[in-house]
Amino acid sequence: MVNNLASYQSFDFIFSTVVLRVSLAISMDAFTNLDAMDETTSVEVKSFFDSAPLLKDANSIIRKLTQFIDHNSSLSGIEGPRRVVCVTSGGTTVPLEQRCVRYIDNFSSGHRGATSTEYFLKAGYSVIFLYRRGTCQPYCRSLPDDLLLECFELTDDSCIKVHESHSEAVKRAISGHHAAVSGGFLLKLPFTTIFEYLQILKLTAMSMKILGPSAMFYLAAAVSDFYVPWESMAVHKIQSASGPLDMRLAQVPKMLSVLRKEWAPAAFCISFKLETDKDILLEKADKALRRYKMNAVVANELSTRKEVVILVTNSGKVSVYRENDHADVESPLIKLLVEKHSSYIKEINA
Ligand code: PMT
Repeated sequence: MVNNLASYQSFDFIFSTVVLRVSLAISMDAFTNLDAMDETTSVEVKSFFDSAPLLKDANSIIRKLTQFIDHNSSLSGIEGPRRVVCVTSGGTTVPLEQRCVRYIDNFSSGHRGATSTEYFLKAGYSVIFLYRRGTCQPYCRSLPDDLLLECFELTDDSCIKVHESHSEAVKRAISGHHAAVSGGFLLKLPFTTIFEYLQILKLTAMSMKILGPSAMFYLAAAVSDFYVPWESMAVHKIQSASGPLDMRLAQVPKMLSVLRKEWAPAAFCISFKLETDKDILLEKADKALRRYKMNAVVANELSTRKEVVILVTNSGKVSVYRENDHADVESPLIKLLVEKHSSYIKEINA
């Protein structure tokens, strides 16, 4: 993640309007002690939420979540009640100003989350898709980015029709999406900032608590590790006339332990570990599995993330490959996770 790259002196922040080189006044100690700081206390988490700007549409989100969970908990599914997975997708932003012009971002396209959502739905799960606005959406992967301009054409009588070359993809997208939404199996909740993401994740987790072990969390979002606390954030656009910008970023408390201990203790939890250095990837994934008591950690390397992932669980490590160059690695991955979830439910209910 971009934020992790911060450990190397100075780095490029992607701003909404410009790319600036910012020297951070963050001591190297803060980064080398990162792992030790993972033991998040409730106090740090409470202080993050207390100081976060209020979620604008919290009531409407709670209403949607309640309806979705009520509907799905009354249905039966694979070997018991219908399972519900919360898939998080895309990257969070870190605003630098309260009336935000500039923000720190990261690379995540949301492809993993969107693709996985399709495979979970296919496997009979209902999905709460918590996604970054503007990132990849379920069933839209095979459509061109500029959908309206490339997919449609005007006929002689000024009617709009789907271009022949895209008709199969558009049909698949519409029918897949329609079936999921009209059946009440897919709920989409958007976020942009780290503040929105963590507040919505908390609301989602707490509403899924009643599902017990039938609930799953699949945390594929690229979550910012560092942020500017709201109360110390500049209100207006930071002025460039005063010269180079020095900023101190606070560490975002890891929410995995709180999710596991408090928000949804019986749920089956899968977190992700992304690294660019393959020599440290598995060690870090192992650490996350133990420290946060995850049921599984999906380890992936930035450059090969669409080809192979490694599933790390208490029973060992399994490399999961896509079947061919046109296949999705998420297909075998979700199949394996569904099996592990089934064993987990049986174990809990035994
Ligand atoms: O979106 P794509 O382009 O398809 O790319 C997919 C992906 C590479 C983003 C995805 O496969 C992936 O690895 N996502 C997790 C990236 C990440 O944030 O890794 P991390 O090592 O920084 O965090 C590990 C876990 O801790 C994550 O599950 C994250 O949800 C969680 N976390 C992170 C920071 C934080 N403050 N609290 C958290 O709970």
